[in-house]
This record gives sequence, structure tokens and C-alpha cells, in this order.
Amino acid sequence: MISNASRPYIDASVPVLREHGLAITTTFYRSMFEAHPELKNLFNMGNQTSGVQQQSLASAVFAYAANIGNAAALGPVVSRIVHKHASVGIRADHYPIVGHHLLGAIKTVLGEAATEPLLAAWEEAYTSLARLLIDAEAKMYEDAGVQPGETRAMRVTAVERESENVISIRFVPQDGGALPSFKAGQYVSVAVDFEDGRRQLRQYSLSDANGKDSLRISVKREDGGAHAAGEVSTWLHQNVKVGDLLNVTHPFGDFLPDTESNEPVVFLSAGVGITPMIAALNRIAMVNPERRVIFAHAARNTAQHAHQADIQAAQARMPHLQVVSFHEEGEEAGVLKGKMMLERLPSWPRTETEVYLCGPLPFMQAQWNALLAAGAPAARLHREVFGPDLLDNLL
Ligand SMILES: Cc1cc2nc3c(=O)[nH]c(=O)nc-3n(C[C@H](O)[C@H](O)[C@H](O)COP(=O)(O)OP(=O)(O)OC[C@H]3O[C@@H](n4cnc5c(N)ncnc54)[C@H](O)[C@@H]3O)c2cc1C
Ligand code: HEM
Repeated sequence: MISNASRPYIDASVPVLREHGLAITTTFYRSMFEAHPELKNLFNMGNQTSGVQQQSLASAVFAYAANIGNAAALGPVVSRIVHKHASVGIRADHYPIVGHHLLGAIKTVLGEAATEPLLAAWEEAYTSLARLLIDAEAKMYEDAGVQPGETRAMRVTAVERESENVISIRFVPQDGGALPSFKAGQYVSVAVDFEDGRRQLRQYSLSDANGKDSLRISVKREDGGAHAAGEVSTWLHQNVKVGDLLNVTHPFGDFLPDTESNEPVVFLSAGVGITPMIAALNRIAMVNPERRVIFAHAARNTAQHAHQADIQAAQARMPHLQVVSFHEEGEEAGVLKGKMMLERLPSWPRTETEVYLCGPLPFMQAQWNALLAAGAPAARLHREVFGPDLLDNLL
């Protein structure tokens, strides 16, 4: 909680942060990485280059200020952050470092406007949020039975092509021990150590059901187009073969499709956003094949439509599964041409059905808005974002 003395300063700085948020976090990262270059191994330096992560931290700081007394609004944001933090191994002793450079950046960017009481209020606000996150993260590590930043060596048992640009990688613990427990929808971080000594972590959703005898991730090769190619995805595509070892974290993540009940459920995905949906579909096919499921997916074309074998296997087991595919290119029987549109999907009771979404941001924004307009309550909509969530529902 924030003291009564500090609250007016925090409230008053919301518009200031709105104006300078991005400059503050850009300055913050620059000074922190100068003082602590080792922290670059923790952060996604791809996001740093493209500016996405800067925006997300700016959003988080601002969202915290805007919602300082509103635990209900902050709850989902905090949950997303602590799962991501646990997945990359953030420790309690990292927080003072971030706090020091964040306050320093506020001071630098605001100049004379950064008065002593305003800085003191922000120090108090940061400390209070840090406490909340540290405690939540400590509990996650304890529940998972891992140390912060711990990775486990996994032996690759299969590498399979799912589409033109997606491969699946299966692995088991090298030590022969039990697989980590997880739920469909969760992700692991894969750590890649490059020859120049840099380490980079990326998150990959587990793409097969929990309860099997290996873990599977499915990775899209990010060719980059006008930009540099994606570092880790390209590396995995070029290097991983059966028998190799991969360093993988414990599974975390709070996108948890309901796979265990009997209720009808809807999955809407696009591109590589299909991966957590396939984990959920395979789990339902395993534990409750009679369930009513709508599984809609949008791909560019048939060559880029990953996981068709999983879908066919589920169809063979699940009499009430409705699969709807959209391809932007090409004409095929049984496939709808163009982008996914809500009105082209089978209907379902909007107010009572859980809907899970995963795909590129424009896809999710379009589906989310269409679903709300069609009467689906926001509480029934759940999304996974394959990058920092920009927290737009809070802003
Ligand atoms: C919870 C979660 C689950 C995920 N699950 C999956 C999954 O199941 N499958 C999957 O394939 N991915 C998944 N991802 C995404 C994955 O973590 C990586 O982000 C992805 O593989 C790209 O990483 P990379 O290292 O290859 O690219 P990076 O090097 O991080 O680059 C990211 C992108 O930026 C582009 N880029 C490079 N330089 C610039 C520049 N200067 N300006 C603009 N753009 C630039 C790259 O081409 C690339 O497309 C998930 C992410 C999250 C957060
Ligand atoms: C109060 C303090 C903090 C806040 C509000 C905060 C906020 C956030 C947010 C919003 C994200 C993105 C979550 C998403 O994926 O949507 C994130 C990710 C991340 N945070 Fe924090 N964070 C804090 C402290 C820290 C600390 C102390 C560290 C350690 C140095 C850290 C390192 C990271 C890393 C490495 C990521 C993953 C993103 C990436 O790979 O670049 N954070 N944080």
C-alpha cells in the first residue's frame, strides 16, 4: 500500500508518465545495462531492439500508477508478470538494481519536475510493487520446487516438421527423472548459449497434452523479412537434432484453458498461436473426448497450417469436435477462404462459454472486439500473447 502522503504525487504523475513513459524506460534500460551487462542474458534483447519490451515496462509502471488502489484491475497483470519473471528466473536481489535505475531514469527525464517528494513517492510505490512481486515469485519457485533461474538439461527425442515454418521438438529429462508437471497452455523458457558467450531465453508453449511421456514445443522460424532474423528460433531450426541437450526451465504461465470439465469450449488461434490450443485439444481428446469443442484456426495457406496431424487425430476421437480452418491464400475443400470472422464460425451460447485466443496482436484485437460486440462477457475471454502483453485493457 501507498501512504497518504505519497498518493497525491503518484496520482499527479500519471499524465506525466503518459507523456514520458517510453523515454523513462528507454533511459532506464540504457543505464541498467551499462552498469550490469550480465542482465542482458536475462532480457529478450530482440524485444529491446524492436522497442516492444520498453513499451511493456512503460505500460506496467503507468498501469500501476493509474490503478494504485485497484487490486482487482492489477491482479491479472501481476499474475502475468510473475509467471514471466519466474520463467526467466528473476531473483529478489534483482529488484533494488531495477529500482535504482528506474528512479534514476525518472529523475533524468523529468529534470526539475522530479522533485524530492515525487521521487520519494515513486520509491515507495516501486518498493511496494517489488515486495508484491518478490513474494509471489518466491511462492512460485517454492511450489515448483526450483531455484530462481534453474534450468534442466533435456535430451531431444524427436524433431518433426509441422509446416513450412514450424518444427516440433520433443524432449525428456537427461537424468531420466520424472517430467515436470504442467497444465495445457503453459510454456517453458529455452535457454540458448551462443558462441560469443551471450545467453538468450525464449518462451515456448508446451504443444502437447500434459500426462504424456515427453514434453513438446513447436517453434516457428522467424525469418525476419525486412529485419534481422529471429535469433533463437532460427538457431533452434538450424541446430537442434535428436540426441542433443537443451536447457529448459520449469513450465510456468497463467493461460490455462479448462481441459478437465464437461463444458463446451471454443479455441480461436492464428499462425503459431495454435501451439497452446493443440496442447489443450490433445488433453481433451485424452481425458474427455465426448466434449463439445469448437477449434478454429487461421493460417496463411495450407503449407503454413501447422499441427494438422494432431487435429486429424483429435477429430478421429472426438465426435463433437467442430474444426473450422481459414486460409488467406489458396482454395481447398473444407477450408474457408480469407481471415477468421466470428460470423463465419458455428454459433455458441455467448454468455456461458469460455473462449481462448492466441495469435498475432491484430488477430486477437479483432476477435476480442467482435466477441465483446456479440455479447461475450470479458470474463469469458482468455488470451495468450506471444510477446510482452501491452496491457491495453488497463490503459
Ligand atoms: C508465453 C509465450 C509463449 C510462446 N510460445 C511460442 C510457441 O509456442 N511457438 C513459437 O514459435 N513462439 C512462441 N513464442 C515466441 C517466442 O518466445 C519468441 O519470441 C520467438 O521464437 C522469436 O524469438 P527469436 O529469438 O527467434 O526472435 P528475436 O531475435 O527475439 O526477434 C523477434 C522478432 O523481431 C524481429 N526483429 C529483429 N530485429 C528487429 C528490428 N530491428 N526491428 C523490428 N523487428 C526486429 C525478428 O525478425 C523476429 O521476428 C512465445 C512467446 C511467449 C511470450
Ligand atoms: C516492480 C518491478 C517490475 C515490474 C513492474 C516489471 C514488469 C514487467 C512486465 C510488465 C513484463 C512483461 C510481462 C509480459 O510478458 O507481458 C516483465 C518482463 C520481464 N521482466 Fe520485469 N518487472 C519488474 C521487475 C523486474 C526485475 C527486478 C527484473 C530483473 C532484472 C525484471 C526482468 C524482466 C524480464 C527479463 C522480463 C521478460 C521480458 C524479456 O525477456 O525481456 N523485471 N516485467
